[in-house]
Amino acid sequence: MLSKIKEIILEVENFISEDITKVEEFRIKILGKKGLVTQFFSDFRNVPNEEKKEVGLLINELKNKALEKVNSLKDSLGNVSQELKSEDLTLPSSPIEIGSRHPLSVVHNNIVDIFSRLGFTISEGPEIEDDWHVFSALNFPEEHPARDMQDTFFIEKNPDILLRTHTSSVQVRTMEKQTPPIRTISPGRVFRNEAISARAHCIFHQIEGLYIDENVSFADLKQTLMYFAKELFGEETEIRLRPSYFPFTEPSAEMDISCKLCGGKGCNVCKYTGWVEILGCGMVDPNVLKQNNIDPEKYTGFAFGMGVERISMLKYGIKDLRLFFENDLRFLKQFKPAL
Ligand code: PHE
Repeated sequence: MLSKIKEIILEVENFISEDITKVEEFRIKILGKKGLVTQFFSDFRNVPNEEKKEVGLLINELKNKALEKVNSLKDSLGNVSQELKSEDLTLPSSPIEIGSRHPLSVVHNNIVDIFSRLGFTISEGPEIEDDWHVFSALNFPEEHPARDMQDTFFIEKNPDILLRTHTSSVQVRTMEKQTPPIRTISPGRVFRNEAISARAHCIFHQIEGLYIDENVSFADLKQTLMYFAKELFGEETEIRLRPSYFPFTEPSAEMDISCKLCGGKGCNVCKYTGWVEILGCGMVDPNVLKQNNIDPEKYTGFAFGMGVERISMLKYGIKDLRLFFENDLRFLKQFKPAL
């Protein structure tokens, strides 16, 4: 009898069910009027005197454990069904938090979208480049001080290998592979050996554009960039072109837009001029076309290049460029959800 009771105690301890009728069946089997506990008590009479104490204690233990188990199972099952009854199961569930795109991705996508609508394709190229694609093919003569305009990271063992300082290198690769008409933009990461500050970083993103065909003129360049600026910054945006210098374009210009933050009235972002610079551009230098086996007598083209960080700072009024790279959620959460 002792071992039989111990066996049932074990069964009680291990019993588990989420079915309320099974729990009730279990209760009847052990604690019911004709259940095991009643049976053990009636058999108690026949237990030899010296064993009575131990058997009695065990039967009580079984009874208490079974009661405890049945009550706790009934409680938890009862609560669940109570909860289910009081809840409207047709209501939508609590919302799942949606992440947001990185502001640089938002602006990158906007820019790519605008130029895609104008028929520009997207080209990509390597970040580790050679001198030819970054400088020589773009009319930077060797030893020319223009190479210092962009502080370059060279590979020590082989100064012919470097990290690209602009994505114009991708345009050289496009000219190698394609014949005009060429209409492409090249977005990507670029590297310059600059001290990190609120306004400069050694890694940033560029989007450069190249358009080569017969009869492409400076007017086409200006019109394309004006359309771009109005699409990105709003219809009321004005542009102006200032003469500048790049080895690969002639004539060259820098483009300003009317300051978004003060509406052209003057503020510390535009240094009280009402204008902010957003990109460099110009007509592709005939030497560059020649270097890339394109006949400059037949074809002309324009090119432009902009920094995505700079444009994002202007678009969102961000004052410190380092914020883009710190991954601070308080900053990142302020941008539109990624839908
Ligand atoms: N490659 C230039 C830069 O990185 C930008 C540029 C591109 C200027 C094309 C003119 C034409 O600064």
